[in-house]
Amino acid sequence: MSIPPARSMALDILRRTLDQRQDLQAAVDTVLGMAAPGPETGLATELAYGYLRLRGRLDFLLSLLLKNPVQTSPALKRILGLAAYELLFLGGVPEYATLDWAVSLTKKRLGQTMANVVNGVLRNLIRLGPDARHADLYRTRTTGVVPFLAAWYSCPAWLARMWIAAYGQEQTELFLRATLSPPPVGVRINQTHPGAPDLRRVMQQSSACPGDWSCVLHSWTDFMRDAARNGVATRQSLAAQSIMGDLDVARWPDPILDACAGRGGKAFLMAELGKTVWASDINVFRLRQLRSESRRLGLAVPAFLAPGQGPYPLRIAPQTVFLDAPCSGLGVLARRPDIKWKRTPEDCAGLAELQREILAGAAGLLPSGGHLVYVTCTLHPDENQTQIQRFLALHPQFSLLIEVQTATDSGLGEFFYGAAMRKK
Ligand SMILES: C[S@@+](CC[C@H](N)C(=O)[O-])C[C@H]1O[C@@H](n2cnc3c(N)ncnc32)[C@H](O)[C@@H]1O
Repeated sequence: MSIPPARSMALDILRRTLDQRQDLQAAVDTVLGMAAPGPETGLATELAYGYLRLRGRLDFLLSLLLKNPVQTSPALKRILGLAAYELLFLGGVPEYATLDWAVSLTKKRLGQTMANVVNGVLRNLIRLGPDARHADLYRTRTTGVVPFLAAWYSCPAWLARMWIAAYGQEQTELFLRATLSPPPVGVRINQTHPGAPDLRRVMQQSSACPGDWSCVLHSWTDFMRDAARNGVATRQSLAAQSIMGDLDVARWPDPILDACAGRGGKAFLMAELGKTVWASDINVFRLRQLRSESRRLGLAVPAFLAPGQGPYPLRIAPQTVFLDAPCSGLGVLARRPDIKWKRTPEDCAGLAELQREILAGAAGLLPSGGHLVYVTCTLHPDENQTQIQRFLALHPQFSLLIEVQTATDSGLGEFFYGAAMRKK
């Protein structure tokens, strides 16, 4: 049997993102860029994202069925995991078709003995029936809260432990539940564009629009692709847009220096509100993308390379410094499920240290009365609440105006943290 291209592509995406540490979306773009467009590319993306969201649960099930799970090779576990995802959670593929490709692919890559193992394990998985999709099985076959949460909600044990210590078990389960489904697709309408009122009217009829200029969609359609190409719409998560509103972005004094601007997602949100924004970042590639965004949206946002240790090349002081800080990304696991399998507690500590330096540098750029606004897309006190408490203790000339975190019942599927401070 020839292997369906979607499964080969999905395994290639997983190899790039898990073994070579490429970002998941970059791995998807690379692999799909080499394939002819069609339904197989959509299926490959769904398989890779779906498998990564549920990998912990799938590995747990396989550990119940394999004779020697610890010594099973990662290559075999990945084929088994992808096939198990397809059998239990994808829907629409007949069981025999999944068994066929999984056994044939294993025989080709790992030999007949391993192909027999795959055949036996997947048949036993099918025999588990609906139990495999119910929490009871996971609760009864684990001992203790953390192993249960790690298996059922598919996350590393250190993350469940850290969230329970920081936020309590109830909140932890809500955060974890949100990581298991894709978040809604957010759209930001460029209110400075002449076509904005028309687009808003169309979108308000066909989708939910919780903000004046922001809507949610189930998927990114050809209609939206055209609107984006014309500069009237931008894809941006609703949680990212909401945190800016929660921090009262409309009232920040400008000029605003967006000192971690990246590709400019939030810089252009501010520019669309009529703010004067300057952008800087240490990443030249992202700044290049920001400049192309500037042309697409028809908005001038001067961009320059962050100076590292030296002074910023500014003739007048910004009235607001906005820091969308590099962070561990634990609040956006629904959109970027690869992060939970790559991030370590040591990474989080290193990022907290980097954020301390960036915050201290930004504090010195502001005149009296200036605003310092700090945002992360993570759920980690050392990078969020504790970070800001520490900053305020070390910089008594700043006072806290607003501190927010996306509510667990927001339905946005992602969690941002933000703090706005004022220099006396
Ligand atoms: C969370 S991302 C920013 C996303 C962006 N604001 C947006 O909305 O699209 C963090 C950015 O911080 C940048 N960064 C990391 N370390 C930095 C530093 N020391 N100074 C300035 N930028 C830094 C990264 O290159 C990355 O683009």
